[in-house]
Amino acid sequence: MQPNHLILRREGAVGVVQLHRPDAMNALSLELMIELVDALEAYDRDGDIRCIVVTGGPKVFAAGADIRDMAEATVAEMVRRNQFARWERIRNISKPVVAAVCGYALGGGCELAMLADIIVASETAQFGQPEINIGVMPGAGGTQRLTRAVGKSLAMEMVLNGRFIGAREALSAGLVSRVVAAETCLTEAMRIAEEISRRAPVALRLAKQAVLAAYDTTLSAGLLHERALFYSLFATEDQKEGMAAFIGKRKAKYEGK
Ligand code: HXC
Repeated sequence: MQPNHLILRREGAVGVVQLHRPDAMNALSLELMIELVDALEAYDRDGDIRCIVVTGGPKVFAAGADIRDMAEATVAEMVRRNQFARWERIRNISKPVVAAVCGYALGGGCELAMLADIIVASETAQFGQPEINIGVMPGAGGTQRLTRAVGKSLAMEMVLNGRFIGAREALSAGLVSRVVAAETCLTEAMRIAEEISRRAPVALRLAKQAVLAAYDTTLSAGLLHERALFYSLFATEDQKEGMAAFIGKRKAKYEGK
């Protein structure tokens, strides 16, 4: 069954999820979030998919959680919805995720982009956590991931004063890894994802896990974790294949085993 608010397609080993709720700036309604998590988890389970791209429309990636869904909610309702469990499920996607951000990535939209492993931004991208303007604050990681990405002072300006930053500023602050022309944003993200998808799948997942652990742990614990994961890859056929291919001066063919 096709989802209502997403467009799904695959190109080779890359699974693409496009947020598509154009009448509401791709606001992340409960229905959209359920569809999004289902789609991402389906790609994560799918043996033919090795990398995932998440994108929005040309003018907006996503304008945040749906304000209409929350406007009248009580604390008890918000707790009952348990919506952050879905955000945790996105965090737990084990394959690499590339976000292609054109236009606004605001509130939950910025937080969704930050859950991706790599953000490619178009020249037109605008990142912001404007929740303060509607009497609340970020709730899906904005105060934590943004601060780790751009540092305290800029994060405070964005969170306390709703300041938006453009693509160039996001690049210099370390929020995104590259800025490209608007027309090429998705193509560039697809190109990166396609390259990633040719690499050893088990190593990709463990490497992603190790980089993410850097957010959570001390340097010593992180280094130990990294080393254990590194050793474990010597139990894979892909490690033997990759090194043999290098020595034999041929292209490696990875099976994810
Ligand atoms: C519901 C939204 C929406 C949102 C836009 N719309 N953002 N509906 N939730 N987050 C709707 C508008 O109501 C409008 O509907 C239509 O989309 C077009 O929006 P406009 O405002 O008319 O467009 P424009 O003037 O171009 O401004 C674009 C914008 C602005 C800058 C993106 O819409 C905006 O500021 N949106 C809210 C951004 C925001 O505060 N995000 C944080 C949400 S809280 P109609 O029916 O009038 O055409 C959040 C918390 C996350 O994300 C916590 C974790 C879950």
